[in-house]
Amino acid sequence: MKAAPSRADVLDAHGAELRRIERDLHDGAQAGLVAVAMRLGVARDLLGAQHPVVADLLREAMEGAEEVLTELRDVVHAIYPPILADRGLAGAVDAVAARTGVTTDVRLGELGRLPAAIEAAAYFVVAETLANTTKYSRARRAHVGLTRRDGTLVVEVADDGVGGADERNGTGIDGIRRRVAALDGRVAITSPIGGPTVVTVELPCAS
Ligand SMILES: Nc1ncnc2c1ncn2[C@@H]1O[C@H](COP(=O)(O)OP(=O)(O)OP(=O)(O)O)[C@@H](O)[C@H]1O
Ligand SMILES: [Mg+2]
Repeated sequence: MKAAPSRADVLDAHGAELRRIERDLHDGAQAGLVAVAMRLGVARDLLGAQHPVVADLLREAMEGAEEVLTELRDVVHAIYPPILADRGLAGAVDAVAARTGVTTDVRLGELGRLPAAIEAAAYFVVAETLANTTKYSRARRAHVGLTRRDGTLVVEVADDGVGGADERNGTGIDGIRRRVAALDGRVAITSPIGGPTVVTVELPCAS
């Protein structure tokens, strides 16, 4: 009889699947759309001068293709951010923190090897939360901490801004909740009026 797969096996398979979907979309749909947009551009250049109506239609079609491409790129990045493969979780988190509009200190514990699915979720939490900090908090400082404790990855993102985060007003925090719940993790958010805002996420990653 075959042994039941361990949690680590399931997470590894899930991570491999995320990478495969990311690659398929990148090399397939994304590359295909780029080619479509390019051909539309060539057609517009060839016909545009003689047929202004056609030129307008082709321009609209090109703009449409480019919008879809931007959306697709965001989806692909959210599935498995390519920066994770390039720089690992620590490097990727440092990079988001560095391009945040608020001075952000990053504290990383000894993380060891983590399943790709856990890394992708942790990165997503940090990126979305720091984007919120930049957009809404008017904070002077932000903090990101990643530590691994007893088979759990704890991600904490805090800012000293105005507080009052309300997840009913958007889809970002809801997205964090759904993504973390899919990995049997937990999300805690405190954001009283006047601040601070603290988002803590626990992701189980033990075997
Ligand atoms: N760090 C924060 N400080 C103050 N307010 C916040 C903070 N984070 C979120 N908020 C408030 O909570 C709301 C919900 O955030 P959420 O990320 O769910 O949605 P959003 O950022 O508005 O939209 P989306 O993420 O879908 O682009 C925000 O609109 C904002 O008003
Ligand atoms: Mg948001």
